[in-house]
Amino acid sequence: MAIIFQERNRIFTLTTEHTLYQMKVDDFGFLLHLYYGKKAPGDFEYLLTYYDRGFSGNPYDAGEDRTYSLDVLPQEYPGIGTGDYRSSALIIRNHDGTQCCDLRYAGYEIKKGKYGLPGLPAVYASDEEADTLEILLKDSVSHVRVKLLYGVLWKEDIITRSAVIINGGEYPVTVEKAASACLDFLSGEYDMISFYGRHAMERSFQRTPIAHGSFGIGSRRGASSHQYNPGVVLAEKDATEDHGMCYGMLFVYSGNFMCEAEKDQYGQTRALMGLHSDLFSYPLEKEKEFVVPETILCCSDSGLGDLSVKYHRCIREHLCRGRYRNSPRPVLINSWEAAYFDFNGETVCGLAKEAAELGMDMVVMDDGWFGKRGDDNSGLGDWHVNEEKLGCTLSELIRKVNDTGVKFGIWIEPEMVSEDSNLYREHPDWAIQIPGRAPVRGRNQLVLDFSREEVRDYIYELICDILDQGNVEYIKWDMNRSLSDIYSSKTSQGKVIYDYVLGVYDFLEKLTNRYPDILLEGCCGGGGRFDAGMMYYTPQIWCSDNTDAVDRVRIQYGTSFFYPMSAVGAHVSAVPNHQTGRSASLNTRGVVAMTGAFGYELSPEKLTKEEKEEIKKQIRQYKYYEGLIHTGDYYRLSNPFQDNLAAWMSVSEDADRALLSVVMLEIHGNMTVNYVKMKGLEADAIYEEMGSGKRYYGMALMEAGFPVPVEMGEYRAYQFEFQRKKL
Ligand code: GLA
Repeated sequence: MAIIFQERNRIFTLTTEHTLYQMKVDDFGFLLHLYYGKKAPGDFEYLLTYYDRGFSGNPYDAGEDRTYSLDVLPQEYPGIGTGDYRSSALIIRNHDGTQCCDLRYAGYEIKKGKYGLPGLPAVYASDEEADTLEILLKDSVSHVRVKLLYGVLWKEDIITRSAVIINGGEYPVTVEKAASACLDFLSGEYDMISFYGRHAMERSFQRTPIAHGSFGIGSRRGASSHQYNPGVVLAEKDATEDHGMCYGMLFVYSGNFMCEAEKDQYGQTRALMGLHSDLFSYPLEKEKEFVVPETILCCSDSGLGDLSVKYHRCIREHLCRGRYRNSPRPVLINSWEAAYFDFNGETVCGLAKEAAELGMDMVVMDDGWFGKRGDDNSGLGDWHVNEEKLGCTLSELIRKVNDTGVKFGIWIEPEMVSEDSNLYREHPDWAIQIPGRAPVRGRNQLVLDFSREEVRDYIYELICDILDQGNVEYIKWDMNRSLSDIYSSKTSQGKVIYDYVLGVYDFLEKLTNRYPDILLEGCCGGGGRFDAGMMYYTPQIWCSDNTDAVDRVRIQYGTSFFYPMSAVGAHVSAVPNHQTGRSASLNTRGVVAMTGAFGYELSPEKLTKEEKEEIKKQIRQYKYYEGLIHTGDYYRLSNPFQDNLAAWMSVSEDADRALLSVVMLEIHGNMTVNYVKMKGLEADAIYEEMGSGKRYYGMALMEAGFPVPVEMGEYRAYQFEFQRKKL
């Protein structure tokens, strides 16, 4: 059993194959955190020390004992008003306006299998793969109860955490802040690794020492955001890709979030992951519950590379769902960079014909096919096919596309409305905006109030009507602005931002249930909602609107810390690149895009004969490598923010096959040779590099490295396939 409770000393121990998590109910009923890290025998209660600390208060029940203070002790779910002055996991405002919730232990339950969360995405697993621990805490005055949930996935080294807050009292209370995970460390120096960015340049790597004070990242944008991704790593100072202790905290949520890391007065570190407290104030009537989205915890003493492999497996096997979870994804061509808004039915059929000839599987009709949508200033919300523009019905168009031998996919942006639309003219109150104030516009559009069921249902019907017109096999679900001036005419104001996200999930759940065979790709101006929450519904997400191969290696590098390559939408686009003006070779663009869910974003008409031949080869190559890239273990072999080159690799789980990919980022006269040290191979095995036929020991490739050729030319890219050979 992965979960054990020792009655004798009231210690809970959660064990995975390599890690251990321990906590204890103490004599006052507080739930204290004891240890999280590498698996080690015994109890860690001895780590708790008690000294009289000035200005750190003592709970009343401690009587004369001044050495007991929650301001110093490590806790599982710290709340405000209890004498702990560090950042809180939970803030409750009681009906009398006071802010206090003194949570004490009230019982536990251990269950087979992994808990689920109503209305929210969550890690899932079979009864054989996971166990659940529920710990009940209670405040004896307000009668607020908190059910802490722990999911333990033994083989994956994953522990998930969530919390359900229940108002068991007579009076309404308000949840002002709620995290799902708190990690308290009694000692150690940590860096926080986070992923910041902006539109078209998402998830840049940042490593910041956690100093005295507080360091935080988050989103107030309604989506998880381009600016900060809801996943962080706490790494011990000396932790690298290959060595050292590191802890991941990944939020399974697609809206506002807050992650705080704080070093306190005694050098202890606290890290919290949860909902952002700004714009959030959730009223709970008597007997009502509030569910905090889940955080996926994982730790490794073998460095960041191992941590990433574990997150990738967890997301691939225990979060992504549906038919496409483990099956090959169609190689698609998307009309956006090929034609933007300037297309008609013939353009789409033209793309389909070319796609078929080149060996692609699908054509995707992006923005511009509905309502009055000649540009991005109008039409959102009017989900009716613009047959005049297409020159035919959608059914006819899909049939024609299918007749060329390729599948058909379509773009939608259900959460949005243009002021210049029939929907807005009929239902202006369906858009999120504050009465009496002019709304903030983003891309000249407003956001629909998806916290309201009738709004969602209306759009859902329209979208289903579109999908029912023919054989649609893929949807790109976009979201092209941040939420801003928050108000809902139906929902209490402090709830809107959370209920909005649950509304999106509700829509997606209904959609995926009704159309289980349609592949969904998430998108939010590229990677503005690239998170584990969305991956529960959309097994792939358009990683960035930036398709420049050189920028992409950096974006995909940051993305790879938590997310598997199978989830990374990546396309080859035309040069000069539309976002940067840079020109990388077709080979380089292909090598970079192949490390993802592969496709094209260009006009084949403009390609030369040679380029077309190269693309045919590229697609064959992608299909040959796809299984390895999507299901193998992925390793970063360089840091493209610092090094001359970007290098990464995928290794099959049995280590029989590996693909090494390299992009040269810097080239100089009389160039030095770069040796790339590979990872994840079998040390004693012999591997053949399939291009040259040369053979190497796995150990040699990992310890001494593989020399990357020195060739003239900017941004050259290489792929080397290695296969294990019999000794
Ligand atoms: C967003 C997406 C693009 C494209 C446009 C269409 O920016 O990220 O890929 O779909 O919207 O308007």
